[in-house]
Amino acid sequence: MNRIAVVTGANRGLGYGIASRLVADGWSVALIDTDSEVVETASRLSGTTGEAIGLVADVTDPQACAAVAHHVESALGPIGALVNNAGIGGSSDLVHESDPAEFRRVIDINLLGPFNMAQAVVPRMIASKAGGALVNITSILAQQAEVGSGAYSASKGGLALLSQTMAVELAPHGIRVNSVAPGNMLTAMHVDHVQGLADRANITYDDALAQVRDTVPLGRHGLPDDIGNVVAWLLSPDASYVTGQTISVNGGAYLT
Ligand SMILES: NC(=O)c1ccc[n+]([C@@H]2O[C@H](COP(=O)([O-])OP(=O)(O)OC[C@H]3O[C@@H](n4cnc5c(N)ncnc54)[C@H](O)[C@@H]3O)[C@@H](O)[C@H]2O)c1
Repeated sequence: MNRIAVVTGANRGLGYGIASRLVADGWSVALIDTDSEVVETASRLSGTTGEAIGLVADVTDPQACAAVAHHVESALGPIGALVNNAGIGGSSDLVHESDPAEFRRVIDINLLGPFNMAQAVVPRMIASKAGGALVNITSILAQQAEVGSGAYSASKGGLALLSQTMAVELAPHGIRVNSVAPGNMLTAMHVDHVQGLADRANITYDDALAQVRDTVPLGRHGLPDDIGNVVAWLLSPDASYVTGQTISVNGGAYLT
């Protein structure tokens, strides 16, 4: 498999954790983000062990995704791995009170984004005849319900089943497709989520954060490296017989 990876939503948070781990492992990595800072972020990572480039693109735009695939192959070589990480939390409105446009925006980024990137990258992977691997970042909220997370859960649950379908479709080409379902990870997205919990319960942010932490059997929030480690394993030859699976990385939260 070609050790050239595309990671979306990689300017910060879990995507940055994934990209930096892959660069440390010697991969050449294209970091994709809507935030133009990604170019600078990638140049800081580059040259440590692997190579990194940053490209500004919105995963909701199929033409931008096609341009990313073309650019990455010209700059780094044939793509061996795609990590669909870019995502948003969306509003925390109840489903029956949600703005349909906001519901569509969440689906557009979290579900159609990975679809657009797969359409851009997978035909090239197949043509390379070198196999490959896709990892889609879903969520613990693809596995259990939470009040106010309807659009988000629908998008991530859809992505989990899209991954399984693609695993079956692409197995004959030696391309594996898996999901990673993070739990409560300390990133900007989670800060927003916890602030929403605090506002609804009329408690402080710190108290809400502690309440979330107390639901985690391992007693801590997850960190971007926790996801980077698992994605690196899923992309490695050690996971060569693993496809169509969801790996939960949540400190045991799903069990409570
Ligand atoms: N943080 C958590 O607790 C948690 C839990 C479960 C799942 N997740 C999932 O993990 C992924 C990363 O989350 P995070 O916490 O690092 O979020 P984050 O908000 O910290 O970072 C997301 C990154 O994606 C980029 N992005 C957003 N929309 C984009 C688009 N349309 N095109 C390209 N880039 C875009 C943002 O600019 C940002 O850099 C998301 O898919 C999220 O749903 C996070």
